[in-house]
Amino acid sequence: ELVKELSGTAVLEAELEEKLGIKKAVVLPGDSDQLSSVKSAIGRKAAHFVEEMLEKCHVISVTGGSTMAGVAAQIRPARKNSDLQFVAARGGLGEEMLHQANTIASSFAEKAGGAVRTLYLPEHLSAEALEMMVKEPVIKEMMALYDQTDLVIHGIGDAEEMAIRRRSSAQEVEKIKTGGAVSEAFGYYFDKTGKIVYRIPTAGIQLEQVQKAPSILAVAGGRTKARAIESYFQTAPERTILITDEGAARMILNPK
Ligand code: BG6
Repeated sequence: ELVKELSGTAVLEAELEEKLGIKKAVVLPGDSDQLSSVKSAIGRKAAHFVEEMLEKCHVISVTGGSTMAGVAAQIRPARKNSDLQFVAARGGLGEEMLHQANTIASSFAEKAGGAVRTLYLPEHLSAEALEMMVKEPVIKEMMALYDQTDLVIHGIGDAEEMAIRRRSSAQEVEKIKTGGAVSEAFGYYFDKTGKIVYRIPTAGIQLEQVQKAPSILAVAGGRTKARAIESYFQTAPERTILITDEGAARMILNPK
């Protein structure tokens, strides 16, 4: 039975890699929309990848979300490494505390060793405030770290769900809807072709900085995230490793 299950997900992994145009996808059995244990399994698997990748990393940028919280919770490197530099990829105060990038970056650093840089800013800034902020030395330092990132670890959200969760304004929701946004990652909203339709005006990692990072780990599962995952992977670099589950994988491969 186990062998059947294992080979079943191996087939899904190969098909997913082909469909999304990436080198590596890992598919955990089950659907995290239905069972929270599947979300933990995703977290554990992603944590293993992170533990290995940390061997060759210095600067690691992480985003927020419940999936990422699951990764941070399960990380257990063999040894602590004080040379690591964890960075919150976003300053967002919009999310629930435990799911904020700041909290998650701190939790990674606590478990893996090393330092952490957090960024406590409102999730949304006015254009004027943002313009002033980016001139602040502390924000410039964050930008320099984003630029030197060796590993980005991030979640992917459904565009509409994220807009609600962030209590986006009516104008933002309008932009997200009329733009046909399907997915969201690190504050960017993408349509089904992977085009950016909106981005939250705040200081955080830029898409170009994610895309030039040597290693990228995307973690997202559940049947309801299938469309979002597919949309995000229209622009994601080929080297992005996706850790997902069967619920999302089957829905991506056989949309109904
Ligand atoms: C947010 C990130 O905190 O979590 C988003 O800023 C991401 O970029 C989202 O899409 C995913 O959340 P979850 O809870 O579905 O893992």
